[in-house]
Amino acid sequence: MAEQGDVTAEKKKLYIETVGCQMNLLDSELVVAKLRHEGYELTTDINQADAILYNTCSVRQHAEDKIYSALGRIKRIKEKRPEVKIGVLGCMAQKDQDQIFRRAPHVDIVVGPGQLARVPDLLASARAATSHSPQLAVSRARNDGSLETITASFATYDADREPAMRPTPFQAFIRVMMGCDKFCTYCIVPSVRGPEQGRPPDAILAEAQVLADQGVKEITLLGQTVNSYRFRHPDGRTSRLSDLLEAIHEIPSIERIKFITNFPNDMTDDLLQAVRDLPRVSRYLHVPAQSGCDEILRKMKRMYTVAAYEEMLSRVHETIPGVSVSSDFIVGFCGETEESFERSVGLVERSRFKNSFIFKYSAREGTKADRLHPDDVPEAVKKRRNNDLLAVQTAISLEDNRRWIGRTVEVLVEGPSKSSVRREGWDGLDQLTGRTSCDRIAVFDGPERLIGRMVRVVVEDASAVTLFGRAETAERVATPA
Ligand code: SAH
Ligand code: SF4
Ligand code: F3S
Repeated sequence: MAEQGDVTAEKKKLYIETVGCQMNLLDSELVVAKLRHEGYELTTDINQADAILYNTCSVRQHAEDKIYSALGRIKRIKEKRPEVKIGVLGCMAQKDQDQIFRRAPHVDIVVGPGQLARVPDLLASARAATSHSPQLAVSRARNDGSLETITASFATYDADREPAMRPTPFQAFIRVMMGCDKFCTYCIVPSVRGPEQGRPPDAILAEAQVLADQGVKEITLLGQTVNSYRFRHPDGRTSRLSDLLEAIHEIPSIERIKFITNFPNDMTDDLLQAVRDLPRVSRYLHVPAQSGCDEILRKMKRMYTVAAYEEMLSRVHETIPGVSVSSDFIVGFCGETEESFERSVGLVERSRFKNSFIFKYSAREGTKADRLHPDDVPEAVKKRRNNDLLAVQTAISLEDNRRWIGRTVEVLVEGPSKSSVRREGWDGLDQLTGRTSCDRIAVFDGPERLIGRMVRVVVEDASAVTLFGRAETAERVATPA
């Protein structure tokens, strides 16, 4: 007679790759958590896998190309072992839908971000099928072309967690909202992730408590425009992001709280005051500007002017001393002239962002910009502007980081640094990496046992992206004479 133990004896192996934003990393964690219940365990060896999943991104063409070429490469695996099931999940699944089956006929399931709770059932029926039978699970478009509200997720899907899929055992994401209502003209996100919906604060808090009980020390609240978070309670009260921060701050073992990404217009004073007054909330705000030219911002439908963005930045710095701000920029958007690009350079110079992520505009089918404006900046010009803007930002980052030399920063230690080597005579000392409260990367000498702890680090040197130093106090005793 088959015993229950047999189930574990035939564990199925799951290989998963994730591209895109933090929301996708979280989605992958939740999918893996669900599949664990179905007897799957993770493998990093794609050739051993019984199921191969790609959690995809459509924000730029490059992200999609990467997945289609990966799908091309694994065709031979499917040819050799037709029982291997292949899934394409996430934003590209929602955007391209059955086109994926046409380009990659060996794919078994295509599942949009709003339907991920169905992955276990879809994989099970793909396995049970006697012949290859591709299945598509995406959210439907409404008559006006916008995506239907995705309701299934929060309760059935977000509640389950999978520690092995986290950046580190003590750092975790929590989704506070789904979707986006802003419809910036260049952006595919609202049409693949659906309309904005806030999650009930009780569920968010309960999840924070579960994570804290699992040993998580740093929580990052996620939303496409996280600071637009609003939840209307049945009794008429409204909860805002600042209320969530206050409530999570009450959990004593949570040592650091972050939130991304902020929309400039929704940077309200209650939020800034919460960041100022709650010591365990990171003094760090990611507030993408996208461009420093009013004409381009208008074409992007960002709904603010450069002056309004800068007014917001002054308010941020006045309210929260020591705060650091980072930004995103798109270069080479439709109609961007040399003059408009120079305005972005000017904004970076004046704002002194901690860092900026700079992207070359990538036309996305189905967006307003793609319909209305020609993608008229040549690739070579986009590339040059990208490099130029990055160079300006890097010089500022270096200058600002060097001002930290000689000061002591508090670092949540994430793990060994990439270049960590156990050096002769260092007697158990290692090179560790972590982040400061204002989100600067710090690499320093200290023993491995500090991983997962909050440590004071004396900064001795700095590059544009990293502060270098050594752990203060007790750890110094262990250094060679
Ligand atoms: N919700 C976040 C992030 C969206 S995607 C926000 O609103 O800031 C992350 C970044 O990708 C954006 O900030 C933008 O700078 C960039 N991006 C989005 N669509 C793009 C496109 N079509 N081409 C190039 N970059 C794009
Ligand atoms: Fe895209 Fe704009 Fe929404 Fe961000 S705010 S996800 S850039 S539409
Ligand atoms: Fe990409 Fe989707 Fe995130 S398009 S950036 S994975 S929301």
